[in-house]
Amino acid sequence: MIRTLSIVGARPQFVKLAPVSRAMATSPDRGGVSFEDVIVHTGQHYDPGLSDIFFSELEIPRPDIDLEIGSGQHGEQTGRMLAAIESVINERQPDVVVVYGDTNSTLAGALAAAKLHVPIAHIEAGLRSFDRRMPEEVNRIVSDHVADVLYAPTRTAMKNLAEENLADRSRLVGDVMLDAVIFNRGLSIERSDIVSRMGLDERGYMVATLHRAANTDSERLRVLLDSLQEAADRHLPVIFPVHPRTVARIDSDYPEWRPSGQLRLIDPVGYLDMIRLVDSAAAVLTDSGGLQKEAFFLGVPCLTLRDETEWTETVEGGGNTLVGADREKIAVGVQQVLENVRNGKVFDAAAAQEFFGDGLSAEKITSDLGKFIAA
Ligand code: UD1
Repeated sequence: MIRTLSIVGARPQFVKLAPVSRAMATSPDRGGVSFEDVIVHTGQHYDPGLSDIFFSELEIPRPDIDLEIGSGQHGEQTGRMLAAIESVINERQPDVVVVYGDTNSTLAGALAAAKLHVPIAHIEAGLRSFDRRMPEEVNRIVSDHVADVLYAPTRTAMKNLAEENLADRSRLVGDVMLDAVIFNRGLSIERSDIVSRMGLDERGYMVATLHRAANTDSERLRVLLDSLQEAADRHLPVIFPVHPRTVARIDSDYPEWRPSGQLRLIDPVGYLDMIRLVDSAAAVLTDSGGLQKEAFFLGVPCLTLRDETEWTETVEGGGNTLVGADREKIAVGVQQVLENVRNGKVFDAAAAQEFFGDGLSAEKITSDLGKFIAA
């Protein structure tokens, strides 16, 4: 029996936890060790639409511990998590602490465990944007360097880790987000009616999201909002589920801005609705890492509203184009991908998936974790 402490706090981490949690539960059926996993929710994301709905839809066990840390400045938020996680580790004495991705919750979990000499497993290790002004980049670098076992989703991630002398602790396992898409795509078709509910047609709309600090907390926000409006006016409806941080920024910085016509702002949606929305869309415009991949796995072209991406395979595989926050590039990109879709020129999603493993990453992780702790 291995006692794990899984630390999550933000929306994409709930998605990554789901397949791992399932693989832990079924590990003995595959002849592996049994796990007793304690789930700690830091409370970084606390809105029900960003948190609770993911636990119910993805059938993740309810968190055993909710630290209710909430929002705050980065240092303050991370510091409060660090202190709270330290107490939990002392109390629960896990064999290994498992952290996911690159949020402040990841960093706090990894640091707390490192200080207490508890082994750390980092899932989705080795991602790099090479832009240290991104809060996530700092979180990734620190988490990777203090972790004991690094589960990398791609060959690029393995290469990044090797360049930082971390090869001996790294394992290429594929991407748990692909596991999640494969497991949930059929369910999303069965259970989500968002496409019909919103009166949308198959390939007759685009999906947009925007939440990165670099895009929301600067003048880039206005350019991006205007670009989305233009895409909706010229081409197809744009469905834009808006992250609370982006709502707050629009209200404070551009209070006079209003979407019009076919640019449709909606509240954040759950996982199954999002997969369903993307699956039937003509294109995705986003600055989210997770959504770039989900679009790629589902064979839907993506325009990434950033100047770089950690998920370079999506670009290599012909499914993703970097358009930054440049109005002209976005307009040309939208025009191009929609033309490709109309002409049936789509990239091969099945071949593309090979960059990200075979959809059994979580099983690989749990089986390796069993050996790692036994060693
Ligand atoms: C965090 C992660 C980011 C990830 C994203 C997914 C960090 C540094 N960033 O960004 O990597 O891609 O989650 O969504 O950890 N807020 C609410 N309700 C909530 C949560 C947040 O209203 O439930 C608002 C608060 O005003 C808060 C702001 O959103 O200040 C930002 O939230 P925060 O969790 O700090 O970062 P995200 O932008 O969500």
